[in-house]
Amino acid sequence: MALSTLLAHLAAGRFAGVLALTSGGAPTASAAHRVLHLLLRTSPPPPLPRLVALARWSRAHFRAPLPLRLHALLLARLASDGGLHSLLRSELHALAAGRLHSPASILRALPASSRPLVADMLVLALARASQPLAAYDAFLLAGADYPRYRPSAFSVNALLAALVRADRVDLAERAFRAALRRHVSPDSFTFNIVISGLCKTGQLRKAGDVAKDIRAWGLTPSVVTYNTLIDGYCKRGRAGKMYHVDVLLKEMNQAGISPDVVTFNVLINGYCKESNITAAIKVFEEMRQHGIPANVVTYNSLISGLCREGKVEDSLKLVEEMEELGLACTLSTLNSVLNGFCKKGMMVEAEGWVDGMAQRGMKSNVVTYNTLVDGYRRLGKMKEAAAAKGAMAGKGISPNVETYNCLITGFTTSRDWRSVSGLLDEMKEKGVKADVVTYNVLIGALCCKGEVRKAVKLLDEMVEVGLEPKHMTYNTIINGFCEKGDAKGAHEIRIRMEKRKKRANVVTHNVFLKYFCKMGKMDEANVVLNEMLEKGLVPNRITYEIINSGMIEKVVVPYQQVTVAFNFDEFDDVASDDYRDSGGEQENEALAISDDDVMGEAVYDEEYLRSRKQQPISSASEEDEEFWLEHDEEEEYSLSTSEDLEEPQRHKKIGNS
Ligand SMILES: *[C@@H]1O[C@H](CO)[C@@H](O)[C@H](O)[C@H]1NC(C)=O
Repeated sequence: MALSTLLAHLAAGRFAGVLALTSGGAPTASAAHRVLHLLLRTSPPPPLPRLVALARWSRAHFRAPLPLRLHALLLARLASDGGLHSLLRSELHALAAGRLHSPASILRALPASSRPLVADMLVLALARASQPLAAYDAFLLAGADYPRYRPSAFSVNALLAALVRADRVDLAERAFRAALRRHVSPDSFTFNIVISGLCKTGQLRKAGDVAKDIRAWGLTPSVVTYNTLIDGYCKRGRAGKMYHVDVLLKEMNQAGISPDVVTFNVLINGYCKESNITAAIKVFEEMRQHGIPANVVTYNSLISGLCREGKVEDSLKLVEEMEELGLACTLSTLNSVLNGFCKKGMMVEAEGWVDGMAQRGMKSNVVTYNTLVDGYRRLGKMKEAAAAKGAMAGKGISPNVETYNCLITGFTTSRDWRSVSGLLDEMKEKGVKADVVTYNVLIGALCCKGEVRKAVKLLDEMVEVGLEPKHMTYNTIINGFCEKGDAKGAHEIRIRMEKRKKRANVVTHNVFLKYFCKMGKMDEANVVLNEMLEKGLVPNRITYEIINSGMIEKVVVPYQQVTVAFNFDEFDDVASDDYRDSGGEQENEALAISDDDVMGEAVYDEEYLRSRKQQPISSASEEDEEFWLEHDEEEEYSLSTSEDLEEPQRHKKIGNS
């Protein structure tokens, strides 16, 4: 075999020719690997870029990865040539994307001299190949095994970003600390990524501490740092969060950092979410004074904020303004306005708006029609609601689980079980999987009818298909048992709930309290009340009403004891209990309808059960999310142990029906 001919083939990229010259010419992957191995050990080796080309050709041609040891040898050769790092990166990426080897075995296969450098680039490759946990492993292993390992900010940033994206902020934080110990030179990105992760998980105080560290590293916080922190407070902060935001804005000002369009958008969005439209508009005006032009995001936040507050007329002015400025209204802007009309029951205008959307050349989507369906449902106009679903189908848009949830909610309210059953069949037929809301609505309806055992069956089914029941789910069933006078059944459900790490909340206690009052068991009622106060749960309006009608009249509890712990500001937020008060009393009326009719036998049909698998909650847009929350207005107490969430935190209700 003439080496010169072989090299000529190689140089010209005639890789099949290279193979033909060697090992009897059998064109197999292993022949290619043998040649590559041979050439890598030739001294001096042929130009490395040609060998990489040969490796790539062999991978593509034979659809076979290089054996790990061979690949590692190629990587080591590439690592020893400072000019070839981009090839090294892409070969590492190929190795990472193959997902065939653990980081440990890759690192072990590398010749010792190249390990620290290649390890760093491997971390980067794995992070970029969306394998955050493997990247984290590689990072830890390299740190443990090679004293000379000094990660680059580049790789560390990619690692941190991948971990935060994968919701592993805990690991990101650890990696960040370890990187600093290993003398990485952090840049402001490094800090901003960690801060954004901490904000994302509500660890606001910690995020602030990391921001304070930035200067200790000779860096300065940027407008991004402040935007991230402000956004964190706006989205995750507790009561008084706007105070923290103010402090941050002042700090920013003192540091000579000017707010940018993102800062203003974050603020506007924050105030809108707080239902403080006045403040949002004020920020909007300040933005003008700063000479910073509002963009689509600004307008979208304001428009949806106004519509949520029922100020749809004001939002129309902003839509006009937007169009005058040449900013394209997005579908979500137009859907927000539609939501504004629907919330006010202005269905004629709503229908007109949907027609107008088509005239603007904007294609309506499932959210558009769900908004309409929900608008009619609110008014109890179920015929029109169903017609809106029909119109949707006419446009070639498939109803989704939210469409069905909305209709099922409406029909259970009007006790039209036949329609409910029809919708369940249709969902099954169309492969639309029931979600937590669907189950909650059905469970609520069954409990209303006094069919608590059937409700429990649905609860079992939920868990079986991988859905996590909510407090509301359990509380509804507990109430169902109480309504039937079955305290034992109620307690069993409470125990089930607590086994799934859901602490009994105010509503749970209210249910038991009400039951014991009704049964005249005042000692037990008192126990429940004391337990509630001892746990630091804040009684709500319903608690107050129960006590007022059930206990104080009978002089069981000193009034004082309750009012002390009672926060009157929360009256308006707690409408959640109401739904169940309309329940059990009318059970006899509901019983007139035969069992089979109720939810449709479909619910208990084995095949149906099997056809249901877990469906991830995909709330792609703001509207979807809002719709979701409207059905789940119960206040919940978080059990999160993160330091900023230590105390029970009430999730603010967004929907307001
Ligand atoms: C709205 O926000 C402003 C500024 O933070 C505050 O002063 C005001 O009290 C808020 N209003 C309401 C109703 O929360």
